[in-house]
Amino acid sequence: MSLWTSKDRVAGRGAPRRVSGLAPHELLGPKGGEPIVGLTAYTAPTARRLDRHVDFMLVGDSLAMVLYGMETTRSIDLDTMIRHGRAVAQAAENTVVVVDMPFGTYEHNREKALANARRVLDETGCDAVKMEGGAALAGTVAAAVRQGIPVMGHVGLMPQKVRSAGQFRSKGHSDSARRRIVRDARTIADAGAFAIVVEGVVETVAREVAERTPVAVVGIGASAACDGQILVTEDMTGLFDAFKPKFVKRYAELGRLMEEAVIAYADDVRHRRFPGPEHTFRKRAKQSAAPPDRKGPPPPSG
Ligand code: KIV
Repeated sequence: MSLWTSKDRVAGRGAPRRVSGLAPHELLGPKGGEPIVGLTAYTAPTARRLDRHVDFMLVGDSLAMVLYGMETTRSIDLDTMIRHGRAVAQAAENTVVVVDMPFGTYEHNREKALANARRVLDETGCDAVKMEGGAALAGTVAAAVRQGIPVMGHVGLMPQKVRSAGQFRSKGHSDSARRRIVRDARTIADAGAFAIVVEGVVETVAREVAERTPVAVVGIGASAACDGQILVTEDMTGLFDAFKPKFVKRYAELGRLMEEAVIAYADDVRHRRFPGPEHTFRKRAKQSAAPPDRKGPPPPSG
């Protein structure tokens, strides 16, 4: 799905701007089509890798744990999310970019929520924000959407409510929990969210959420019953291997590959095999006007 090109993004406060004019519900296309593909991106190099292959990228507050080594997602601040969001939005030319509103920036005060969400949109150039919360958040979602701020919801397991690593547990096991999750999703959709992430719920609940929610339901740890899937890129590529949740499928072992590369480099340095002649600058035969830099052509050898 290609919604914008780089030409469509114009500079504003140092960040590109949304100019698509798409209504929020159009951001991910109609419900019921081909499954939606989402992955997280926290940095420009990752965004460039994903750009042509996914329907949306999420600058998730999971970066607190994955990049910054924090125990939960609750300690990351708005400025950090904006910095990562801007890097990703500037690198992603073809894909919808959604940035997570971090813990403490939107749940308790509606005016503050709207001001913070507007900052995220304006200062990153992203297309939408994501907010975790059930029915109690519906008024804030509706107010944001009325102000032209596209919102993706997030129900089920809400990591911002988790205070320690041991509390990441699947949801929806009791009948009351099932009813609450289905109602949360429905209420947030009715408030105007263009899509809902449902995380860490049992399959029967995911199916009911997908069937009874009028907008796209994107699952993570929520079975194949959803309208699409999202994973944390570092989980599915094996770059983050502190632990592996049951719902993650590893498509590569980049963490192991990286460690093998580091071991080979360290061995080469210790045995004076690196740097070799091909990595070594030598005095030029003739003076040239412009000294070579990292991006320039290699200096003449000999
Ligand atoms: O922060 C995040 O990466 C997320 C996904 C797990 C959906 O919210």
